[in-house]
Amino acid sequence: MQRTLRNGGVGGDAIACVGFSGQMHGAVLLDAADQVVRPAIIWCDQRTEQQVQELATLFGTERLIQLTSNPPLTNFTLTKLLWVRQNEPKSWQRVAHIMLPKDFVRFRLTGERAIDMADASGTLLLDVARRTWSREVQNKTGIEEKMLPSLWESPQVCGRISGSGAEVTGLKPGTPVVAGAGDQAAGAVGMGIVRPGTVSVTIGTSGVVFAATDGSALDPQGRLHTFCHAIPERWHVMGVTQAAGLSLRWFRDRFGTGNDDGRDPYERLCEEAATAQAGANGVLWAPYLMGERTPYCDPNARAALVGLAASHTRADIIRAILEGVAFSLKDSFTIFREMNLPVQRIRLGGGGARSGLWRQIQADVYGRTVEIVMAEEGAAYGAAILAGAGAGAWKSVDEACDAVVQTAQQIVPEPENVLVLEQAYRAYRRIYPALREILTATKVEAKTHPPS
Ligand code: XUL
Repeated sequence: MQRTLRNGGVGGDAIACVGFSGQMHGAVLLDAADQVVRPAIIWCDQRTEQQVQELATLFGTERLIQLTSNPPLTNFTLTKLLWVRQNEPKSWQRVAHIMLPKDFVRFRLTGERAIDMADASGTLLLDVARRTWSREVQNKTGIEEKMLPSLWESPQVCGRISGSGAEVTGLKPGTPVVAGAGDQAAGAVGMGIVRPGTVSVTIGTSGVVFAATDGSALDPQGRLHTFCHAIPERWHVMGVTQAAGLSLRWFRDRFGTGNDDGRDPYERLCEEAATAQAGANGVLWAPYLMGERTPYCDPNARAALVGLAASHTRADIIRAILEGVAFSLKDSFTIFREMNLPVQRIRLGGGGARSGLWRQIQADVYGRTVEIVMAEEGAAYGAAILAGAGAGAWKSVDEACDAVVQTAQQIVPEPENVLVLEQAYRAYRRIYPALREILTATKVEAKTHPPS
């Protein structure tokens, strides 16, 4: 049955090219008949600490950084493949093809097994500097190239909508499809983060500070990820907070949003937080609900609310959560400075940028003017830009971004708040080392992996 697209009445005939974006780092496993072998293990899953240690021993972390530009981390796809091989050998025996989530959708719509360089960078199987699958990683881990999708630059056409793909979507058979990019690289394109100097901070479930670079800039300590950008011959670095928007969602799910007056729950939470003062009356939030990547690379890190007194209110706590997430993102700027990466403009994106309070808190915590762009769609907008470049509507992704990405608003830091939050940030930096000591002593174990 032919279906029609439900996107504002735009029919398949009007669509010149399709772009893709999606969660990064997931492991979608297919057998030789292209059937799904087990539920995907997604980006934030933390079950692979042992495999991380095994990779560090097998290669040496330094060598792995030389080969892939990144250290082994629980999030990266390779560790998930090794986990399935060790823990579910029967499933592993059936695995013939490995894909990332958006690439599985592409496969179903086109029949092509393809991946872009940016998403491939988050597998730990890519030689990021040379933009090719790493032979040495394949040889040492036994993950063969024939299991992996073919590699493409993000704006390259890598397939066409098949007859069955057309049937389920209403797109025209033969419509070209570009490689697209993982959510962060595509989101960065959507916000015009294509050349060095303009940096984005995106608060979705995770939080990411993202900078484009002309070469593959490395943090020798591996606290930032170094990945290919969604633009040929360009790379990017990014620092990741595992539980950014997730911190606020966790609060909403566990403690509610107050009186339900039918409005957006996050809007109500932020309105409540706005009644508390900058610095949240001394309450601090360390957002390590799902371990942490930047700057600690520690899957066993745990979150904490610090400094509570009987006088504190829900508003103080919500405000502390918003500030704590911004402190965690500021940690990435601190590393950018160490690496001499230029930060001339900061653009905010993701759900976190919709809240006026969270925007102001970010300006105050970073001590910098920040801006938001007109198009709020982030990664979807970036995927559309990549498709437009692939279809030849613009000569390059740079040209496309110059044409369609516009600043909507600038937010200037409030000097008094900056001072309060600088002091609070210094205190925040002392939480993780103290927590690590406490958690090691108590050996607290709580599952940090979500259901597959
Ligand atoms: C980036 C990352 C997230 C996920 C989920 O490294 O893990 O952006 O793709 O959004």
